[in-house]
Amino acid sequence: MKSSYISLLTTVSLLLLSGLNEAKAGIDNAQTNVKYLGTMSCTKYLPPTAKGARLFRLCDGKTKVIIAVEGVEPGEPMPRDIAQKVASTMLVAYEELKTSKLLAHKGTPHTPREENTFQSEVDRMIKKGYKLYHSPKLGTNGISCDMCHPDGSNTHPETYPKFQTQLKKAVLLREMINWCIENPLEGQKLDESGKEMKELEAYILSTRKGTPLEYGKH
Ligand code: HEC
Repeated sequence: MKSSYISLLTTVSLLLLSGLNEAKAGIDNAQTNVKYLGTMSCTKYLPPTAKGARLFRLCDGKTKVIIAVEGVEPGEPMPRDIAQKVASTMLVAYEELKTSKLLAHKGTPHTPREENTFQSEVDRMIKKGYKLYHSPKLGTNGISCDMCHPDGSNTHPETYPKFQTQLKKAVLLREMINWCIENPLEGQKLDESGKEMKELEAYILSTRKGTPLEYGKH
């Protein structure tokens, strides 16, 4: 029952998108072994279509593009020229799906509920970062970041990555944050990919909203 539903969905989406297939003719140029077959946004199962058919996922967490890649085994890295063709095909399919009227849930603006969730989740992260930034808990001597950098002043997150003479190398903001935890605060470094570091970074970045990025600037 479930699998027939899935294959029906797949057939329907492949049929709906056959026009899209033709539009992709420019990309599926005959000398290459990369061929666009369709898009699946409703199921994670790959239909047994053409030889070498593979499912490629986009960054949006939803769109899956079916592309046949001949001559490269799944799990094997594709040569750069073929990988570029696959990536370009994925992008064209994504752009067309976004504006397509074929699938009702594509190209629609976010609902007020979604917007609220996006905003409240990011605000929650920033608020936690604000607390850490204003707390002596990151160190051992009672000093906190805000005592020298009120409201994130002079932290210049927009200038990272950049070369820091103290660290003798090009670093990301998080490495500079750790340097400041270890030095003026006399604390223990945070895990660079840990929750607290992400929250601190989020707060510091939020204080520079609208500032153009200028990596490397001193
Ligand atoms: C005692 C004062 C003091 C405290 C406390 C302090 N800093 Fe700093 N911080 C400085 C000074 C001074 C500099 C400038 C160093 C330089 O020119 O590279 C600096 C530089 C920085 C930079 C680099 C700025 C840039 O232009 O690249 C960042 C980021 C930073 N601090 C973040 C923090 C964070 C996060 C904390 C808390 C964990 C903190 N600082 C605590 C004084 C302080």
